[in-house]
Amino acid sequence: MCGICGVVGHRPATQIVFEALRRLEYRGYDSAGISTLSKNGEIERRRAAGKLDNLEEVLHQSPLNGTTGIGHTRWATHGAPTEANAHPHAAGQVAIVHNGIIENFAELKAELEAAGCVFASDTDSETVAHLVDFYLKQGKTPREAAFAAIQRFEGAYAIAMVFKGHGDLMIGARHGAPLAIGYGDGEMFLGSDSLALAPLASRITYMEDGDWCELTSDKVTIFDSTGQEVQRPIQNVAFMAGQVGKDGYRHYMEKELHEHPVAIGQTLQRITDPAAKTIALPELPFNPADVPRVTITACGSAFYAGMVGRYWLESLARMPVEIDVASEMRYREAPQPNKGVALLISQSGETADTLGVLRSLKKEGQSIVSVLNVEHSTMGRESDVVLGMVAGPEISVASTKAFTAQLSVLAALSIEFARARGTIDQAQEEKLTASLLDLPSKAAEVFTRVEDIQAMARVVAEARDVLYLGRGICTPIAYEGALKLKEISYIHAEAYAAGELKHGPISLIDRTVPVVAIAPSTILFEKTLSNLQEAKARGGRILAFTDAEGAKKLKGVAEVIVTLPDVDAFVAPILYAIPVQILAYEVALLKGTDVDQPRNLAKSVTVE
Ligand code: F6R
Repeated sequence: MCGICGVVGHRPATQIVFEALRRLEYRGYDSAGISTLSKNGEIERRRAAGKLDNLEEVLHQSPLNGTTGIGHTRWATHGAPTEANAHPHAAGQVAIVHNGIIENFAELKAELEAAGCVFASDTDSETVAHLVDFYLKQGKTPREAAFAAIQRFEGAYAIAMVFKGHGDLMIGARHGAPLAIGYGDGEMFLGSDSLALAPLASRITYMEDGDWCELTSDKVTIFDSTGQEVQRPIQNVAFMAGQVGKDGYRHYMEKELHEHPVAIGQTLQRITDPAAKTIALPELPFNPADVPRVTITACGSAFYAGMVGRYWLESLARMPVEIDVASEMRYREAPQPNKGVALLISQSGETADTLGVLRSLKKEGQSIVSVLNVEHSTMGRESDVVLGMVAGPEISVASTKAFTAQLSVLAALSIEFARARGTIDQAQEEKLTASLLDLPSKAAEVFTRVEDIQAMARVVAEARDVLYLGRGICTPIAYEGALKLKEISYIHAEAYAAGELKHGPISLIDRTVPVVAIAPSTILFEKTLSNLQEAKARGGRILAFTDAEGAKKLKGVAEVIVTLPDVDAFVAPILYAIPVQILAYEVALLKGTDVDQPRNLAKSVTVE
């Protein structure tokens, strides 16, 4: 999603802003730009379509001066990814960068055009610049003009503005899209997230929804939506340099795949008592025994983690569960039970669809439990309980380690619910917890199978379409595999519960459509095997992820078998997610795609 950064200070702004844009690249973007205020207070602007290298070239040809500046990486919503549509947008005495969507832009634009404003882009964002400038022309101060404009915007926004003739001023505003203030020494910053601000400021304020702020090089003033000055907490954020580098790996995705064992281990360390082999989650503000239903909501990979969570909660804790993707759940008007729990899952904690559900289910009186990687995110601040993953920053657009960390938290939560609801005894809890605690070493062992996964990747890379099959609790892992393959290799893939194959998709099968099976030798293995035999009988090429026992039975059926370490069936979905993601990565390498920033995609999708 779009990334914003800005500085008001004493050092050359362009370099600071450009480097921050580099740190925001991971969010996904298709154009970029920077504006600064020159020494004589004029607004100057450089923009380029495409990658940041293009903007760097433009800046090289035509440098920008000034110690106050704003920058933006744009993920197109309204208007193609061209230079004209790239931010910053400027009008008269103001330049702005915007993340989000101004939903009433058409109405505002018509009003401004009627007043004589001439628009130069197809974006909703340009309306922000013209509206602020309109109020400046009426004689308002920058602060008054910004506030007047903000009050008229509907939709989601994070905005940073700089003003002609005001070299020591930047105004920011947020509603529905994240924006943080960074405190420096004689300089202040705005950024979409703490990664953008990481090396610049260790003291950060996350603005609340509706807040706006005025920054000078030595002062931060924050206002709420009514214009009242407010105090917001300042947090210390410490990122170790290594957490945001590639550490010698070719891609962030490769690095983050290798961080699965650590992400699982660190997450479990926080929510288990390893000595007692029991779960030790933060205190929940309800008794799981009294909860009539859990409603799980998330998007993309986080939703597939939620699907696994449903299996665990239902089977272990006999807990009724409702689940849907957030963009659907938000508008379903599904009745919510008294004392119900809403369980939201999100790596970023900023995904607009999931946040929308959080807010609507909160209004419906549900207790809000969030499983988050970024705990200080908007969702974190608005939840009753945050169950934090400890996966560290995830930079690659395609989610990897956050997925297994999410699953680890959901597994622990399910055990906690089962204990409270009396559906498991202490011995079972110890056995299940032990299987979880065993996972980091098993996860590390997966990387000794990379050559086999590469053999599988060579088959998949040749295909135009691929089918992924799973059964029971491994069905969501098939979905995750298909999503990851589509995202980063651009090969069309579909996932099905293996039992559904014969009800339709089997008609697709021939030599050109490989079938990737997620088949640990659990209770449903024989059934999956029959489904794979059916596919093979119709000319299908079977590629299987299984264990030693399964490998014996799949011999002669599957063309490539990746034999994974033996694990308890309970944790199999966590372990099997790893090779499935590695497969997508290896295929993407063979296809030569942009692994970390796949086309059209954004990390942390802050628009609906
Ligand atoms: C898939 C992927 C996306 C995210 C989804 C939710 O690789 O990265 O599908 O899982 O956009 O994002 P979060 O978890 O930040 O809410």
